[in-house]
Amino acid sequence: MAHSKAVSDQTAYARLHIFSGIIRVCHWLRALSILALVITGFYIAWPFLVAPQSSDVLVQGWIRMAHEIFGFILIAVTVSRVYLFFFSKDNIERRSFADVISLKAWKGQLKAYLWMGHNPHAGAYGPLQFMVYFGITLAAIFMCVTGLVLYANVYHQGLGGTLWQPAMLITEWMGGLAVVRLWHHYVTWAFIIFVVIHVYMAVWTGIRFKHNSVDSIVSGYNYLPKDQQH
Ligand code: HEM
Repeated sequence: MAHSKAVSDQTAYARLHIFSGIIRVCHWLRALSILALVITGFYIAWPFLVAPQSSDVLVQGWIRMAHEIFGFILIAVTVSRVYLFFFSKDNIERRSFADVISLKAWKGQLKAYLWMGHNPHAGAYGPLQFMVYFGITLAAIFMCVTGLVLYANVYHQGLGGTLWQPAMLITEWMGGLAVVRLWHHYVTWAFIIFVVIHVYMAVWTGIRFKHNSVDSIVSGYNYLPKDQQH
């Protein structure tokens, strides 16, 4: 391969700390909540379980409660991650800005994906990867906002009551509650598509560039051949 030196038994690896503990905890909490939200959300959309006639078990109610608990976990993680992105001590994510505005970095990443070279980047992510994460963050914010609008329509006291006025404004602005519900449903598919590609790419880059990839979001460390350090 012309693009990078082959990795042999003698290749020296450097250990880099790339993900802090809080970033890793947020990642897995988000993964768990998105999985639970997709499953419970699709059930809410199509409640196929029927409780026995004499039963007072409100299946839909329990599933909706689970959806809302995971929804609030996602809200907490989304807010924390936005804060950490801008204000964390470690600037491993913010450094990606340099790549996003660099044509060279974009070309480098696209070429690397087409088997034509390695893609050194300034931060933890390549520019395309960064933009996809940015997009999925916007989708998460959209789901949190529309989720809270739906929530305010289910619970009229406490937080739901407090959110009533802004929820009504957003409902009106979006064209009615049915439209809010529909968009909350459509955007669910963005997460399903994202997760499939994300898991594939995480495994693929580890194999393709011979470094720690999936493991780093568990341990926090990446291992790179010393001649490919960036
Ligand atoms: C990735 C995040 C999320 C996904 C994939 C998701 C998915 C869904 C889906 C598919 C539905 C059913 C819509 C329909 O009836 O067709 C739904 C309903 C709902 N979601 Fe979410 N949701 C997410 C986040 C949230 C959040 C953050 C909240 C806020 C607490 C929330 C609250 C609700 C509520 C209250 C409903 C309506 C329940 C009902 O009609 O009884 N969701 N969600």
